[in-house]
Amino acid sequence: MTSFGTTKRDLDQISADAAAVFMFHGQKTPAGITNKKLRDSLSAALADERFEGKGGQAVVMNSNGQFPARRYIVVGLGKKEKFGPAMLRDAVAIAARKAEVARVGHLAMTIPGEGAGAISPRDRVVGLVEGVRLGTYKFDRYLNEDSKKSHPAEEVTIVTDIAPSEVKEGIRVGDATSAATILARDLVTEPAGVMTPTEMAKRASAVARAKGITIKILEKKDLEKLGMGAFLAVNAGSSEPPKLIHLVYRPKGGKAKKRIALVGKGITFDSGGLNLKPTGFMETMKCDMSGAAAVLAAISALAEVDAKVEVHGFMAMTENMIGGRAYKPGDVLKTMRGKTVEVTNTDAEGRLVLIDALAYAQTHKPDAIIDLATLTGACVVALGPLASGVMGNDMKLVEAICDTGAEVGEKMWPLPLYEEYLEIMASDVADLRNSGERWGGALTAGLFLQEFVDEKTPWAHMDIAGPAFQERETPMARKGGTGAGVRTLVRYLASL
Ligand code: BES
Ligand code: MN
Ligand code: ZN
Repeated sequence: MTSFGTTKRDLDQISADAAAVFMFHGQKTPAGITNKKLRDSLSAALADERFEGKGGQAVVMNSNGQFPARRYIVVGLGKKEKFGPAMLRDAVAIAARKAEVARVGHLAMTIPGEGAGAISPRDRVVGLVEGVRLGTYKFDRYLNEDSKKSHPAEEVTIVTDIAPSEVKEGIRVGDATSAATILARDLVTEPAGVMTPTEMAKRASAVARAKGITIKILEKKDLEKLGMGAFLAVNAGSSEPPKLIHLVYRPKGGKAKKRIALVGKGITFDSGGLNLKPTGFMETMKCDMSGAAAVLAAISALAEVDAKVEVHGFMAMTENMIGGRAYKPGDVLKTMRGKTVEVTNTDAEGRLVLIDALAYAQTHKPDAIIDLATLTGACVVALGPLASGVMGNDMKLVEAICDTGAEVGEKMWPLPLYEEYLEIMASDVADLRNSGERWGGALTAGLFLQEFVDEKTPWAHMDIAGPAFQERETPMARKGGTGAGVRTLVRYLASL
């Protein structure tokens, strides 16, 4: 694991296996280089590569023994006016991966874009740490060849004028948010054959023990007692028992002023049920527990960021499978709240487990509820694979989440819950049906959930179906689980 340190020395005086510097579009020479000979060499190398400082563009120059660092990595930051938390992280991640290709052990690095963007000094360091750690993370436990495994730098020296105490604090927080995100990535990317509801409960217990978090695991018989007919119906076709995992984080010392509930969709595999998913749509469905993974991961970091609110996490874990006992289209389910639901599509299972988990969460009287779910393909159609859709009954909460997302480099965009579309979810035999029509699918799913939330409790729903799992690399994450939502949640909860 990479460890971080800091120095105020000029970057060009540091001997390291590599030194990373950054340049805005149109900038002549990288910031942080004072040695003229080195500047000239870099300028020549950059001109040779037609480097323009476009966002993500990267050049590696070998020193050939002329300069203190063995090689210099230059990464473009794009236009200065557009610089922000996302570009900061992406540029760092790109530099860290270039270093990884060269098996760099000690990497020195300036902080990208110092002076640009409205980011606090501490948050710049947080972004740098996340860029290095998340950019080089790889799920490599099943890879035998060493060349295929990840090889992040052992040591990163942050070259900056920021006060060392602030840098230290940034490193501490960045380490915590990165570790949490990595926890979520590991849980999501682990195959569904391993990551069953029971295994999730084991992992959650281990995290709870290590972090001093209270945990209670509700078993099938508990769900039956609570009358969770929707949750249990989704589980009916599975050989794996369901688990409703309840975590409680309490801040140290003194009573918390607020209680927040996090609810996560935890389908460890979504086959679609009897409305079976076709080839091409099922292969990645181990990712369907990303919401629950994000809940556990976020809570795991709350002590380290000194969150002052009480946070209850609810992870609704089950598979969605076929079999002789599987729930069927046409079934009418009685939910914990008493409302009935006609099953018109067994592949709209996420909302069924969520409504019972939301009902249970509300018995703990939270001041606000946030749920996270890989809920609809429609949300991916609407916003593409990089962004989450955020809906809810309280625009302040929705906007706060979207703004926080921007501050940590996660794309979150508000979607409306137009009342008129609730009609689409009307049933002839029950209070509601679980699937409507194709159009506005992310919204009708959100409207369905809203029917099970007390209107006086601020509630936000984050549809993370797009960014939770990626099949294309980005600077901040390789293929697989990304830990979407974790950094946003941790920052939001720490801000309360
Ligand atoms: N888990 C899926 C949604 C999903 C799709 C997540 C793509 C990640 C990537 C969800 O359970 C589902 O199947 N939703 C259906 C709902 C429909 C049947 C109303 C969908 O989006 O097609
Ligand atoms: Mn489904
Ligand atoms: Zn699903």
